[in-house]
Amino acid sequence: MGRIRAYRGLARRGTDRTADRQTNPPSTSHSNARRQSNYRAPSEQRLKSNGLLIYCMAEVLILYYSRHGRTAELANEIRQGVILEANCTAKIRTVPPIGSTKIDVPEKGPPYIRKEELAQCDGLALGSPTRFGNMAAPMKYFIDSTSDLWISGSLINKPAAVFTSSNSMHGGQETTLTSMMLPLLHHGMVLVGVPYSEPALHSTRTGGTPYGASHFDGSEKLPLSTEEVQVAKTLGRRLARITLQLRALSCS
Ligand SMILES: Cc1cc2nc3c(=O)[nH]c(=O)nc-3n(C[C@H](O)[C@H](O)[C@H](O)COP(=O)(O)O)c2cc1C
Repeated sequence: MGRIRAYRGLARRGTDRTADRQTNPPSTSHSNARRQSNYRAPSEQRLKSNGLLIYCMAEVLILYYSRHGRTAELANEIRQGVILEANCTAKIRTVPPIGSTKIDVPEKGPPYIRKEELAQCDGLALGSPTRFGNMAAPMKYFIDSTSDLWISGSLINKPAAVFTSSNSMHGGQETTLTSMMLPLLHHGMVLVGVPYSEPALHSTRTGGTPYGASHFDGSEKLPLSTEEVQVAKTLGRRLARITLQLRALSCS
């Protein structure tokens, strides 16, 4: 169970496995339940079928590169969303620039990522400025150092989300977001976006996409808009919720 704390207890006497067996033939109970119910979180499904109430603690790693601070601002909003979910904590880390003299500790801001921290996270939000329609080289450089995690499968089945900041409206936010998704898919991660049930996706005139959170800084170096903040928080919270649900499944 590692550092995840899981507590198990009997949920409701009437929903334990024995009671289910007495009232429903085993071959049909699952399909009937599926037909009758709307969407149910995986952790709740587990609770229904096993009669176990499972609480997991989970940690979302928010890992970004930011040269001028805009991607860092988005990271902070995503963090606000993550910690809205009870039982979920957020850890913020960055990657070092390329070509500078190697230093272990940045002059300001969060520490540089250690690969063990990535391996141990339960969920991941990955962010980079848009650079020629792609993620920035320091982030790619770090990701290219993770073959050992790919070999060990450390990130398989863990949820991940992406975010970016760009200077122009059509300068490649979506391509940058998808460029970060590709290695995460190779790692076996489960991608989490922003559904259109989020009203800010409909009203935004700047950043904020279904593929992930984003910011358009423009030539005037605009601050994050209300909608950009809202989409980032929604993404963080959704990532946290799905991280907890997947943790609950693997704890059981
Ligand atoms: C080398 C380089 C390439 C860039 N390429 C793009 C681009 O393709 N499209 C765009 O809209 N902005 C581009 N930008 C601007 C940054 O994406 C933008 O200023 C971003 O908000 C910076 O994020 P940060 O404050 O986190 O460093 C580029 C900036 C640099 C330095």
